[in-house]
Amino acid sequence: MSDALSQSLHLPCGAVLKNRLAKAAMTEGLADTMNRATERHVRAYERWAKGGAGLLLTGNVQVDRTHLERPGNIAIDNNGGLEALRAMAKAGTSADNHLWMQINHPGRQTPGGINPAPLAPSAVPLAAVETGAGNPVEMTETQILDVIRRFAHVATVARDTGFTGVQIHSAHGYLSSQFLSPLSNRRGDAWGGSLENRARFLLETVRATRKAVGKDFPVSVKLNSADFQKGGFTEEESMHVVHWLNAEEVDLLEISGGNYEQVNDMIGRNQNDAEGVVRKNAAESTRRREAYFLDYAAKVRPLFNKPLMITGGFRARPVMVETLEAGELDMIGIARPLCAMPDVCGRLLRNEIQEAPAPERVMTLDRKALDAVMGAPVDDKMYRTMESWSQVAWACMQILRMGDGKDPDLNLTLLEAFGAYDANEKAATAALQRS
Ligand SMILES: Cc1cc2nc3c(=O)[nH]c(=O)nc-3n(C[C@H](O)[C@H](O)[C@H](O)COP(=O)(O)O)c2cc1C
Repeated sequence: MSDALSQSLHLPCGAVLKNRLAKAAMTEGLADTMNRATERHVRAYERWAKGGAGLLLTGNVQVDRTHLERPGNIAIDNNGGLEALRAMAKAGTSADNHLWMQINHPGRQTPGGINPAPLAPSAVPLAAVETGAGNPVEMTETQILDVIRRFAHVATVARDTGFTGVQIHSAHGYLSSQFLSPLSNRRGDAWGGSLENRARFLLETVRATRKAVGKDFPVSVKLNSADFQKGGFTEEESMHVVHWLNAEEVDLLEISGGNYEQVNDMIGRNQNDAEGVVRKNAAESTRRREAYFLDYAAKVRPLFNKPLMITGGFRARPVMVETLEAGELDMIGIARPLCAMPDVCGRLLRNEIQEAPAPERVMTLDRKALDAVMGAPVDDKMYRTMESWSQVAWACMQILRMGDGKDPDLNLTLLEAFGAYDANEKAATAALQRS
């Protein structure tokens, strides 16, 4: 079977991806209390590697142990664990596929239990109170330069331990994305103000990373098409940044969207459904619903003459093939289906299935039960936000199962996932604090 999905992709640095399907980054929560990789990563990545994708992106790996996206993150911060990373990299590349480490600093999206005063471009707290994030502290220039240096250092550790590429996370409202947005970046120095200044952190990080890993190692960037917030990082600004990235030594640009204040956008629910109602009828499947960043891809395509990957909403094989054949993009990023069906990419490649599983389209959060858990009725907006977070929690719980060598539990409800995830994070945070 040799259609568009099975074509290899040559990257500017010389590396070759064996096909056009990528597992997008998903936080694993499988690290030990020293934030080191474990046997559980080995199990999950071995399974995903055998699952057929040409490229696996790891969940976000932190450059600073005091700034985690969640307690079970891997961090590379003089905390040892190099052998464990090697084992993870070996397992995650065991099917002639690539495994790239996604490198991140969460900035103000660090949970308060991990750091009540996280570093951020400016001291603007996250409006999403339900996330329990701390009160950010404005970074000094020395601290900014230190974080850039850390990104480059982590990239060299990734290369030296057998990962075959890296991705700089500049999407979803984490530190690099905070620098880009005028809502979270109110600085008056060279790192804030004009778009050129707000993009400086990202561009300097790309340059430092490239310099550290050399010319022949894949370096990718994940960027938001927009934050979907009034006064935030706009689509037009994003296109400018893409134009600048085109002049850098970037091998692959991945487009995504949203942040913790716009979690519905982060997993594509607003784009899928303008009315705010979860659609349940698979027959309604449209090209637009399939991949909500495709409109944006069409606009950036002329600005970026290197490989482009779009992540978010891709489920139907015919749409994947069609967009690749039309040259709208070069790689299809898929995240949540790999939690319900770890070998979904192989099955799509072999033409065994026409649709990747999409449990998020049919699962709803029991509203009465949620009210009971929250101790008071939640309004519609909060309900929808909690439902989106529960969908993320559902996927997280499946990844934890994979780490334990188990199959996905497709009978898990969103409410159960919400509770189990919360309990897991609390226990992991307590364990981290004790260590
Ligand atoms: C459980 C879970 C964890 C995620 N973790 C990350 C992450 O660590 N880094 C990242 O860039 N995106 C992360 N994402 C976002 C996905 O990479 C992807 O952009 C999003 O899920 C939309 O793709 P999909 O519709 O195929 O799921 C995560 C998503 C989920 C569901």
